[in-house]
Amino acid sequence: MQQVLLICRPGFEAEAGQEMTDQAAAVGVFGYFQPVRNSGLVRFTIGSEQSPEALMGRLSIDELVFVRDWFAILGDCPLPTQDRVGAVVDFLRDQGWDGKHCARVEVRLSETNEDRDLGNFARKWVSPLSKGLRGAGLLQTDAGVEARARLEILLIDFGHAVVGYSLSGNRSPFEGGVPRLRLSAAAPSRSALKLEEAWKVFLPRERWLDYLGGGKKAVDLGAAPGGWTWQLVNQGMMVMAVDNGPMQPELMASGHVEHVEADGYAWRPKRAVDWMVCDIVDKPRRTARLAVDWMAGKYCRYTVFNLKLPMKKRYEEWLVCREILLEGLQEAGLNVNLRARHLYHDREEITCFIERLD
Ligand SMILES: C[S@@+](CC[C@H](N)C(=O)[O-])C[C@H]1O[C@@H](n2cnc3c(N)ncnc32)[C@H](O)[C@@H]1O
Repeated sequence: MQQVLLICRPGFEAEAGQEMTDQAAAVGVFGYFQPVRNSGLVRFTIGSEQSPEALMGRLSIDELVFVRDWFAILGDCPLPTQDRVGAVVDFLRDQGWDGKHCARVEVRLSETNEDRDLGNFARKWVSPLSKGLRGAGLLQTDAGVEARARLEILLIDFGHAVVGYSLSGNRSPFEGGVPRLRLSAAAPSRSALKLEEAWKVFLPRERWLDYLGGGKKAVDLGAAPGGWTWQLVNQGMMVMAVDNGPMQPELMASGHVEHVEADGYAWRPKRAVDWMVCDIVDKPRRTARLAVDWMAGKYCRYTVFNLKLPMKKRYEEWLVCREILLEGLQEAGLNVNLRARHLYHDREEITCFIERLD
């Protein structure tokens, strides 16, 4: 049985599975999914002759919204109480794993793991496991080598792991799939982490200066108390913060922020800006139309905005919003890059990014 393990926010297994089924079918790979409820894990089984690698070769993780990370499953490996490294070595040999294209191993835990002992074990296990695998010729000896694949070991508990591999350039950019961002004490709200994560997911690291540097201008719709505005100011931007609510006084004292008390859906800047960001919690279709209007009117070049998902039919709502965005942008004759992701710091919303390319 050929399977891919999908990793999503716990509670969104059905959405991740539906999305994968649709996206795989669109590239000619047919399969079905088995969600493990509230685990953040979904097994996608490929029904046809194709391999997980063929599927992952045709689809990019960047095209997926609810699937935050994935890897091809080699199989389920039982772990004994003694010599777990030996068990993984034997398991990989049984699978015919040659280790030629692989220089590193990642030990992961499910996002819902509450067993601290398992967490400690996972951290400490990486080093003896890597050593054992290298000794057995199942990992390249030079860990610094830019290898095509990475071995993935998801520890379900002390007695069981899902073993597989991910492909370089087509997996989450974060170690273990989880961004480790630290909230500065100066940040006006926890939401600040969301915009930071969005940039890390959507913008290529080597081009951050092009996107964010050089004293750009930004508009933040639904800005209060100012977490996103604070991130923009930290990049040296001048920000118009649109919200009827109060902004954090320390942030206002920076001299980089103009507070505009207005309705974010109706207000437009007199002159075009570089960035528009929007964190207003409202109907997602309304926000999608707002983003189209800003792009079509060339009020901004880049935008990051949140789409609040309804209680039910969350995946379907995203499909409707995606249609609004794609149709609207096409009607406006714009050549754009549109991305969306259910970020680690998102709860019941997804985050979108659009950039105008011409
Ligand atoms: C989730 S909070 C934004 C948090 C902010 N991004 C931060 O990092 O601190 C949503 C904000 O949207 C504002 N809001 C709601 N409806 C709005 C509207 N129509 N126009 C402008 N702001 C609105 C609310 O006052 C609230 O401050």
